[in-house]
Amino acid sequence: MIKSSIQVTHNILEVRKAIQGLRNEGLRVGFVPTMGALHEGHISLIKKAKELAEEVVVSIFVNPAQFGPNEDYASYPRPFQKDLDLCEEQGVSIVFHPEVSEMYSGEEIIKIQAGAMAETLCGRSRPGHFDGVLQVVNKLFNITRPDLVVFGQKDIQQFFIIKEMVEEFKMDIDLVMAPTKREPDGLAISSRNIYLTESQRKNANKLYEVLGAVSEVIKNGGNGLQEAINMHVAELNNITDFKTDYISCVEPPKMQHSSEILEGRTYIIVGAVYAGQTRLIDNLIIHT
Ligand code: PAJ
Repeated sequence: MIKSSIQVTHNILEVRKAIQGLRNEGLRVGFVPTMGALHEGHISLIKKAKELAEEVVVSIFVNPAQFGPNEDYASYPRPFQKDLDLCEEQGVSIVFHPEVSEMYSGEEIIKIQAGAMAETLCGRSRPGHFDGVLQVVNKLFNITRPDLVVFGQKDIQQFFIIKEMVEEFKMDIDLVMAPTKREPDGLAISSRNIYLTESQRKNANKLYEVLGAVSEVIKNGGNGLQEAINMHVAELNNITDFKTDYISCVEPPKMQHSSEILEGRTYIIVGAVYAGQTRLIDNLIIHT
């Protein structure tokens, strides 16, 4: 079969029409929303979507609503041509790359609030962040109306908050979570890793190591869990430039803190540290 080449559009009506065309042919549409600066993590989501659907749509949109006033919206990397080449290589059917004005009228009256699930972990340090994520993801879902959407485990709080929205708003979309892609030393791949200085980068995988060590405590029944977490927080804080935001054991899907470890349950050990100005996040899922 000859595959037609990738379609790139900045326009909502156009992307709708293109996706409708695919759907009219009876093809399943998988969607991978991104902010671009694509890396191995994003590619793995595209691959997963290709496994599960005949056609894959990728959005590339740096969403201003999810950045705080002192965050990196302006400097967030935007290597659009490189991203496009990667999508083409992966056999993506449609890339949606809207301008901010296409997505936001500038006078939004109705806004989605992520609620209690966004008040902990990353939401606590990034007020309004998950509201902004939901605002854009809701729009993107309405524009693309996919059969399924693939998200990364790396942003696990984001995944469960979006899942909550899909359930609350009765959206007919399957959400799939794909595992975190890592550098050889264990550091979770991120578009923001380019901000790390050489010495910060050398130590950046310590977060993954610490989460691994804490997950062993959980697997062994959780005795001394909080003491272990405190010790590892101190260890991370001892690294030059590093400041731990949180290390916490939570239970999905609500992501509430859990101090008691029971057998036959699923826990997530989540962590965030600042390496200088750069925020690193990671998590491991543990089945007891
Ligand atoms: P972005 O940070 O570009 O991430 C897009 C998707 O890639 C998310 O689902 C994220 O979890 C996943 N991802 C990032 N790093 C990964 C890694 N190392 N391994 C596997 N998956 C990884 O997340 C966003 O954009 C935005 O919040 C978005 C959902 C697009 C809304 O604006």
